[in-house]
Amino acid sequence: MVILGCREKSFASRNLGLIIMNQSPEKSPTPLAPHRPLEAFYSAPSARSRFVNDLFDATAPDYDWISGVMSLWTDRWYRKQALVRSGLRPGMRLLDVASGTGLMAEAAVGLGLEPAAVAGIDPSRGMLEQNRQRNPVALLQGRGENLPFRSATFDFVCMGYALRHVDDLRKLFGEFRRVLRPGGRLLILEITRPSSAMGLRLMQFYMRKLVPLMGRLRNRSVSTEKMLEYYWATIAECVDPAVILAALEEEGFQDVRRKTVGPLLSEYVACEREVREPDHIRLSSPDSPPGRGWSFAACIDLLNLRGVASARLAGQVPPSTP
Ligand SMILES: C[S@@+](CC[C@H](N)C(=O)[O-])C[C@H]1O[C@@H](n2cnc3c(N)ncnc32)[C@H](O)[C@@H]1O
Repeated sequence: MVILGCREKSFASRNLGLIIMNQSPEKSPTPLAPHRPLEAFYSAPSARSRFVNDLFDATAPDYDWISGVMSLWTDRWYRKQALVRSGLRPGMRLLDVASGTGLMAEAAVGLGLEPAAVAGIDPSRGMLEQNRQRNPVALLQGRGENLPFRSATFDFVCMGYALRHVDDLRKLFGEFRRVLRPGGRLLILEITRPSSAMGLRLMQFYMRKLVPLMGRLRNRSVSTEKMLEYYWATIAECVDPAVILAALEEEGFQDVRRKTVGPLLSEYVACEREVREPDHIRLSSPDSPPGRGWSFAACIDLLNLRGVASARLAGQVPPSTP
């Protein structure tokens, strides 16, 4: 289901739009999971996304704290720097996939992007509720592997620390590419397993012992400890960066690169260059203004689930100048 959310009714009424459900032709390459099934947490691969969703729903109120403590409170500053480094500029349309509590979207708005030109999508309702309190951007409930936007809609797609949680990297990257306009850019932030044995041990100690202890002292929920265990397991088991880079290239991205920051952080950047015919049917009312920016005809309140789930993405954006 798609849920549209926005913070203020005035925002919604100012901005008319229609979201088009996924129009991409079904491709079925061999799925590429980000890690092997983790039986200690769920019984079968089919139970994984439910498990992940319940975990993020339960830990959403603690998420910002976890993000802060895991990064020694450099996380917000770092997200901004990474977005700037990879070419995000005011005037662009941004899709924040796995938007969570909205830290990436918040960084983008802090860099001067119009809130009306930013959309966030995430499957966890709990995370979206936190996000909604923070960001006056459009929010949708959904998964990165099946994006409910027409092709070539965004100048920039970002995903922060969620690669390990999707079902299929190939499908995800295919969707990223589809919704990016030619010349659009992609940034994926991820935590990568340290290559040295010492680094691995230090990280394991920090994530499995120290942070949970701090959580207990701060009365964080039991789910938060489980989340940290799960985080650690997914980082330790994640496919190698080379596999991620190869999958991005296979999906047709250009200038695919990985920048590392310290021993843990990876920034995957890529560019959608090819000029393609749109593969969608454009749905818009005859009176839709041709201007830039995008907008929503109706806003379903994320908490009350009222309203009409339709919106239109209209207009063209000027070429970006990264
Ligand atoms: C670690 S949080 C990252 C949140 C945010 N991007 C940030 O930088 O703080 C991971 C997020 O990925 C979301 N997620 C899990 N599976 C997903 C999927 N298949 N597609 C998109 N998001 C997903 C979770 O609900 C969660 O909000």
